[in-house]
Amino acid sequence: MAIYEINGGTPLSGTVTISGAKNAAVAILPAALLVKGQCRIENVPDISDVRILLEMLRGMGARIEQPEAGVVVMDCTDVGFCQPDSVLVKKLRASYYLMGVLLSRYGRSLVALPGGCSFASRPIDQHIKGFKALGAAVTETDEYVSMEPGPNGLCGNRVSLDVVSVGATVNIMLAATLLPGQTVIENAAKEPHIVDLANFLNTMGARISGAGTDTVKIRGVEALQGGTYAIIPDQIEAGTYIAAVAATGGDVLVKNVIPKHMECITSKLEEMGAEITNYDDSIRIRSSGKLCGTTVKTRPYPGFPTDMQAQICVCMALAGGTSRLTESVYETRFFGYCTELESMGAYIQVEGKTATVYGKESLHGATVRARDLRAGAALVIAGLAAEGVTRVENIHYVERGYERLIEKLTALGAKIRRVEEY
Ligand code: UD1
Repeated sequence: MAIYEINGGTPLSGTVTISGAKNAAVAILPAALLVKGQCRIENVPDISDVRILLEMLRGMGARIEQPEAGVVVMDCTDVGFCQPDSVLVKKLRASYYLMGVLLSRYGRSLVALPGGCSFASRPIDQHIKGFKALGAAVTETDEYVSMEPGPNGLCGNRVSLDVVSVGATVNIMLAATLLPGQTVIENAAKEPHIVDLANFLNTMGARISGAGTDTVKIRGVEALQGGTYAIIPDQIEAGTYIAAVAATGGDVLVKNVIPKHMECITSKLEEMGAEITNYDDSIRIRSSGKLCGTTVKTRPYPGFPTDMQAQICVCMALAGGTSRLTESVYETRFFGYCTELESMGAYIQVEGKTATVYGKESLHGATVRARDLRAGAALVIAGLAAEGVTRVENIHYVERGYERLIEKLTALGAKIRRVEEY
């Protein structure tokens, strides 16, 4: 079992370059199945979620080449209808996007229920509601979701989501892209990767408008053709490095970011005492490591992202005074890491949706276990800021979403290494 071993207490300094967005990549790569022709997709992060997805798409008959780092060239012209490998589907949450893609391209789909980080119950009822509104007859079992055209066939329609769901918004956009008629998604999610997916699909010939607002309109087209597209930088990866600098102290230029996407995160860290300077496509963060407490409530974009909850909690654990952290997207997310942080000396009281974090002067090293991707990232930050040695177990979670983490942190002066046999 591999672990990360971190010798904490070193401020971070230098430059880090952010990779392409994981959550955009895991939507755009399956979306390429809608295209007849060759798609060149750039800025694709080399993370295990993407590797699994590419293996799944290859297994379905996609011709995929990776001519250089960060570039995927995919041709799905000759892919016939098939069921994606269930074993691979279960390894990845985003494999449910194949439901929308297959329905759009072939009018039917058969996909196993997805896996991925299980930090909360993650229902897909809103995805199904959308597919049904588009005319699909949906059969759900404990293992699979299968769809075929209902009695009136498949056609665009109006769908009003009961909860703001990134996954449902993406899946309905994908499903509607090649269907006749217009689909309108109301109460849609507005995350940057939804806009990125719409931009990708529009580059290939789709007619999608309103992405990034709460009403997305998709006018179905007969076919998409090939083209070139570059994925946006990863908001959460960037936020994780920024939080790491805030917690450990230091001076880092974070390159390849869209500062607008980062405002919900950087404004909070500024409030806590970090100094932030925005440039066109980079952000400089300076921190003395002495932070003050704050109040954060996670919300869908443009609110503070739930995927940054655990990382900001580490900053709070090291800040002066008492902070309050309220989770409004995935209630049970605190359980992934608060106990681990407590074993490093943090003092956190969780009551329902809210954690009260009593800041401490310092944390100390310990052996801790990642329970999901972002919880794991938070434990790495805690280890970087703590005194002594921290060992993070279960790092396969972290490697699902952070490209070359050790290399990037080491270049910033962190003392972290991947120990293969532990
Ligand atoms: C996506 C992100 C994930 C992030 C989450 C919230 C990807 C691949 N993953 O996950 O990193 O943590 O957004 O920003 O982009 N819900 C329902 N029914 C549904 C769907 C969702 O009740 O059919 C609820 C969920 O339980 C949750 C909320 O809606 O409480 C938001 O979930 P959603 O936005 O769908 O998250 P994901 O797309 O799974």
